[in-house]
Amino acid sequence: MSLKDDETFVRQRYEDVAAVEQTLGSLLPHPADMPDALNTLFEAMRYGVLGGGKRFRPHLTLSVARLFRAPPMRALRVAAAVECVHAYSLIHDDLPCMDNDDVRHGQPTVHRQYGKAAALLAGNGLLTLAFEVLGEEATHDDASVRCALVSGLAVACGGYGMMGGQMLDITSGGAERVNDSRIGSLKTGALMGFACEAGAIVGGADEINRIRMRDFGLCVGRAFQIADDRLDADGTTPFERAVELVSEAVTHLECFGARADILQAAARFAIMREQ
Ligand code: IPE
Ligand code: IPE
Ligand code: MG
Ligand code: MG
Repeated sequence: MSLKDDETFVRQRYEDVAAVEQTLGSLLPHPADMPDALNTLFEAMRYGVLGGGKRFRPHLTLSVARLFRAPPMRALRVAAAVECVHAYSLIHDDLPCMDNDDVRHGQPTVHRQYGKAAALLAGNGLLTLAFEVLGEEATHDDASVRCALVSGLAVACGGYGMMGGQMLDITSGGAERVNDSRIGSLKTGALMGFACEAGAIVGGADEINRIRMRDFGLCVGRAFQIADDRLDADGTTPFERAVELVSEAVTHLECFGARADILQAAARFAIMREQ
């Protein structure tokens, strides 16, 4: 690994951000000649997903998809679906009944801008849009691949994934919340695990490589959440654990040699980022 690998990662990440945002823009419903209420819903969905963010999960999907030589247009649809689910999770996470946050990405949160009911529905709209996109033939002409994507995403964001993690998170206290590794595994690790596995699925990888990629993403997600808590709490969380998790993540890439260097750089970014 060298500085050049990190530069490649940064350049590739910028390219991926632009491509994912363009794909999201075309997949999301556009406000048009509709009743005002529907236009508001569509605007709230667009605001929630296009208003900012690092696009780290779709970058992971695209990086893994490149490793398995998936067609870029298919990979982009999968990456956009993953980002829709992430954006939905943030919209609901910010609601008064959850974290009650007023600002996200330097702007009013969706419920602050459009009201609580529209935010709830916009989140639901993004979640269901993700499954709609994965289920369409443009994502893959093989129905068994589409099915693997749909069921993988459902598990990652369900009760044994992100939803379960969010429930544990909101019902636990400060120190308990930060020290319970299950919470980070479920609320953040599960979706990042799927983001990586999905790149392998759309690239036609076999079961062993799918699991390798899922395990890589799970470790990266757990490390990412530890770093996130540290950024929120200003250095009070056990950061060593995040470094260990990044090392563990990288072990899942060993058999790919230098072709996975960009994924190694992504794993390091998960804990070195400044926002
Ligand atoms: C924030 O995730 C929520 C967590 C899982 C820690 P990101 O930091 O990836 O969110 P954005 O989309 O880049 O703002
Ligand atoms: C965000 O988690 C939602 C999910 C991980 C599903 P957090 O509440 O920890 O993240 P921020 O601090 O609001 O971005
Ligand atoms: Mg939260
Ligand atoms: Mg929050």
